[in-house]
Amino acid sequence: MQRWINEIARVYTGEPRQVGAGFSSPELPYLKIHPIFIKISHRVTKVPCMPTPKITRRRLFTLLAGSTLCAGASLTNAYLIEPDWLSLTENEIPLPNLPASLDGLRVVHLADFHFRPDDDDVLITEMVKRVNELDPDLIVLTGDYITSNPVVIPPLLGHLAKLRAKHGVIAIMGNHDGWKMEGHELKRSFEKVGITFLINENTRLNIQGDTLAIAGLDFIWLGHPDADRAFRGIATKTPTLALVHEPDYFDYLNREKNFLIQLSGHTHGGQCRVPLIGYAPIEVRYGEKYIYGIYDSNQSGDAKIHVTRGIGTTGIRVRFACRPEIALLTLRSIA
Ligand SMILES: [Fe+2]
Repeated sequence: MQRWINEIARVYTGEPRQVGAGFSSPELPYLKIHPIFIKISHRVTKVPCMPTPKITRRRLFTLLAGSTLCAGASLTNAYLIEPDWLSLTENEIPLPNLPASLDGLRVVHLADFHFRPDDDDVLITEMVKRVNELDPDLIVLTGDYITSNPVVIPPLLGHLAKLRAKHGVIAIMGNHDGWKMEGHELKRSFEKVGITFLINENTRLNIQGDTLAIAGLDFIWLGHPDADRAFRGIATKTPTLALVHEPDYFDYLNREKNFLIQLSGHTHGGQCRVPLIGYAPIEVRYGEKYIYGIYDSNQSGDAKIHVTRGIGTTGIRVRFACRPEIALLTLRSIA
């Protein structure tokens, strides 16, 4: 035993050891079971590791048929099933600076509608129905209502006007909206149907005697985000949700402002992901770092960010391993 201790001490103290000193090989435990390894390895090596399969016509046909079937099923799913296969994701988010009175606040986060009236009517109708069934406290919409044509706004608002939450519905701009529409026009259209629309401004809700501030920024990609204006008048200690369409702005905002969590869309969760590992090969500007889900800040602040997979699609109407998402976030106080 003493010899063992000395040997370990030598390893950690770096004390040089003369060659040949210390343990003789048979005393080391791994060498004591050495014969077992020898026996196993002998058996293994006797069996050919990778027998080369003989490629017969039948095997080749089976392989091709299987591959075609898999590819067909994947394409059918990606084009015909998944873009309409709405999912509900529920997350509890512990927030250190959330007052106890706001513990349990349920926020539905929706984004990236990219509404196509001919294709998405059933999807959006179901989305509104399911969100209202959740009876949330607050609904936030983090941008990209259109892809390129503003004429879809009135029919989309026909659906969004039916959303119901105890403390209302609050929306911000997305880059696709800002590229094709004036912000004030969009704001007017939304506010006509009772949806609060924030462009570099904030609103404050009184919930059970406490104030919850919501700061909404203009879109980042070629837009005019102004964090100072968006957070103007919010006291440092006021619990605040930040709405920003493009998620990668988080690193900047987290350095500059105090808030609990940033809610973003923009990435569509990748829209097509590699099954099982979830890797999203297609990146979008300002959506390269935070792709989907909840991330902790790796900086000094306590803020978090949530990125939703969104509802609609851009480009080809296709989704793969990345279903449209209603995100229900329950905020938890860990003060
Ligand atoms: Fe976007």
